[in-house]
Amino acid sequence: MKFRMLYTLFTLTGAALLWTNNSSGPASVQGLDRTGSPLSPGPCQACHSAGAFSPTLTLEILDGGAPVTEYEPGKTYRMRVVADADGAAGYGFQAVALTGADDVQAGEFSNPGADIKVTPLNGRQYPEHSMRRTSNIFEIDWTAPEAGTGDVRFYSAVVAANGTGSSGGDGSAFLTSPVTLAEGAISSAEDKELFDAFTIFPNPMESRLNLRFNSRERGEYQLRVVSLQGQRLLERRIEVAAGEQVQGIDVNGLPTGVYTVSVTDGRKVSSRKVVKR
Ligand code: HEC
Repeated sequence: MKFRMLYTLFTLTGAALLWTNNSSGPASVQGLDRTGSPLSPGPCQACHSAGAFSPTLTLEILDGGAPVTEYEPGKTYRMRVVADADGAAGYGFQAVALTGADDVQAGEFSNPGADIKVTPLNGRQYPEHSMRRTSNIFEIDWTAPEAGTGDVRFYSAVVAANGTGSSGGDGSAFLTSPVTLAEGAISSAEDKELFDAFTIFPNPMESRLNLRFNSRERGEYQLRVVSLQGQRLLERRIEVAAGEQVQGIDVNGLPTGVYTVSVTDGRKVSSRKVVKR
């Protein structure tokens, strides 16, 4: 009852400011980790419990569809969370990837599937549902962190809902121990980086973003500017000559914030974090 009132308060005040509704993810609505990680005051079942469903939760990190147990630094994988329950009307989830004794964010989430968003919270990214989903499969890209990061722990919780628009009568599950990926070897640093000596200036940037790099060969590459929420806000093809060069693009239309700027040929990638102010 107390929780419900709190939650309603949050949604009433939050809904006016944020693009959200009552059935949106708990990081955006409650400002809380509900994955059951060490940062969590309790998973979804703090509210969604004693209902008709007992979902099972499976979390996998996929490389070309096959689950992996170790990650290659800098490589992009697909995280898949499945909430299995018979007869549920809809589903929700939340997840986080942590590393180290301080539980800092490990790697980066981007490119979320339909009705999934990434909510930034206390310097970490929380993929979660943006509305009650009819599909019980949640997918999002995860780019592994740099070499030397060590083990990465994935925490997640799901809800199988009865669709009555309340937290009663639902069922939930969380990972009582995280799915852990060990750090693997980089196949070859030379092979992975698209450019040598890739820098972005100025950083912070204002109206213009300049890339300075050394390309081993000439070609057409894809430039992307991705927000912390994992949205691709800018995407364009750039023509690149062999050798050292500077290319500039207009970023006047970009909101202030932190971005990852990357250039890729589809196999190799060079990327940097940059602040827009
Ligand atoms: C603090 C209590 C609380 C926690 C914790 C919580 N929820 Fe909820 N949730 C609610 C309430 C209350 C509603 C109904 C709100 C409404 O739609 O008016 C709700 C609604 C939902 C719905 C829609 C249900 C339906 O039947 O329409 C989904 C899906 C959902 N939550 C998923 C989650 C997930 C996933 C988590 C954990 C990662 C979670 N919730 C954690 C309180 C909570």
